[in-house]
Amino acid sequence: MELSCAGAVLCVLQFILFSLILGCGAQDDFVCPLPNGLFPDPNPEACVRFYQCDNSIAFLKFCPSGSLFDTYKKLCVDRHLKVFCGPQPATEAPVIIEDPHTAGECDVTKCKLPECFCSPDSMAIPGNLTREQVPQIILITFDGGVNSLNFKTYNSIFLENRTNPNGCPIRGTFFMSHEYTDYSLVEDFYSKGHEMASGSVTRRAGLEDATVDDWVGEMVSMRQILKHWASVDPSEVIGMRAPHLKPGRNTQYEVLLDYGFVWDSSLTATPGAMPVWPYTLDFAVNHECKAGTCPTHSFPGVWELPMNSHYGQSLEGGFCPYLDQCALLYHSEDEVVEWLKYDFHHHYDTNRAPYQLTLTANWFATKELHKALLRFIDYTLSLPDVHYTTVTEALQWISAPVPLSQMQNYEPWDCKLRQLPKSPCKTPRSCPLALEGRFSEPYGIAGGTRYMVTCSQCPRKYPWVFDAAGTGLGNDVYEKATF
Ligand SMILES: *[C@@H]1O[C@H](CO)[C@@H](O)[C@H](O)[C@H]1NC(C)=O
Ligand SMILES: *[C@@H]1O[C@H](CO)[C@@H](O)[C@H](O)[C@H]1NC(C)=O
Repeated sequence: MELSCAGAVLCVLQFILFSLILGCGAQDDFVCPLPNGLFPDPNPEACVRFYQCDNSIAFLKFCPSGSLFDTYKKLCVDRHLKVFCGPQPATEAPVIIEDPHTAGECDVTKCKLPECFCSPDSMAIPGNLTREQVPQIILITFDGGVNSLNFKTYNSIFLENRTNPNGCPIRGTFFMSHEYTDYSLVEDFYSKGHEMASGSVTRRAGLEDATVDDWVGEMVSMRQILKHWASVDPSEVIGMRAPHLKPGRNTQYEVLLDYGFVWDSSLTATPGAMPVWPYTLDFAVNHECKAGTCPTHSFPGVWELPMNSHYGQSLEGGFCPYLDQCALLYHSEDEVVEWLKYDFHHHYDTNRAPYQLTLTANWFATKELHKALLRFIDYTLSLPDVHYTTVTEALQWISAPVPLSQMQNYEPWDCKLRQLPKSPCKTPRSCPLALEGRFSEPYGIAGGTRYMVTCSQCPRKYPWVFDAAGTGLGNDVYEKATF
């Protein structure tokens, strides 16, 4: 049956409407959908035919006998196989499954301190204060292990003459990891009022796609390791930071909530007109998610202390959440001081979002950087409204802001009201601990011996993920939301 037909489109219509078997498809009638490529005959019954378009000129072709043209594969395939004949939807429409848990946009009418804080651009000052009413908080944070190689340099920051306006010595926050950590030195920092947070046991890469179990093993085990080997009260380890600043999507924050953590500091913010203030994760993260694996669900009441990337006008520092990632090598001490001041004033002169000195041991490997840091800290302490706090102290103020003029006796930051933990022992033990097979997968540790220093009795085995006490069993069970 041959019917003449005005055009391919009409043919298709006729086919749909009348289900007629149409024999149209003379090559002059075929309109190339794209200038070049292989296209099926509009008539799905005429599957043996297809068109090759060259610069919008159609050439009729036939598949070898026994085969039919498959629209998706753009090939002639055996007719006994499943063949997609004739016009098909251009691509299979992606199935968008609406995630019912997706956090909504910041709604300031529903988000009230102290439990909730957000602002449309994340730049608003909490409590509706003006810049002049805000104490400029500076946070000193360290990532990684603490040991005899970095203890002295870290300590050089915390001389007793470096005090806040309230007379208390300045203190920092340690995102602890386990490898090469000397727990007697951790205990020393802890006993002086520094904050301990969890930075994962192993600092391994790839945790952004890890399971709940992996995150519990890394973050909760680290908290328990600090308890066993540095006498840190687990109820005070309430913050975490994902290794390599790769947050674990929603999984990490589920673990955070379930296991009694209160805040996270893994998300990074690129430099903008103003730095971003900490916020709660009730609503969607509304600054760029550089890592690409930020949480998307709502985690009511969980505080995020984003790392504002550092930047300076004079140096093309690139994106550097950690200070040692900024391109500051080969600059003089004076230049680095000026750069730090510029970076700091981007907070101090705008919205006074907390400024983080994000340090790792690397920073202190360069003498100029180390000295510049101390000079910069002394400069900031000469300003009347700068206060160095731990992360948790900062969040105490942010969740219930008090104007500077009323802060003479601000209790949450008053060191005299705090009972410090006991001092560490005078003569810690160095425990030789063999590494065996259980450290190879997925941790990539070949073997050898670690000398773990602690004031506690030496463990049987090297403490590890799900083996905080070092029993060698690796079957720790951690209670949810308890310590
Ligand atoms: C914030 O301050 C502005 C101006 O002082 C005022 O109009 C507004 O109502 C305040 N908002 C809140 C939530 O207190
Ligand atoms: C603290 O003492 C050190 C060493 O004596 C000194 O270099 C530094 O400038 C002092 N800092 C302050 C804020 O007084």
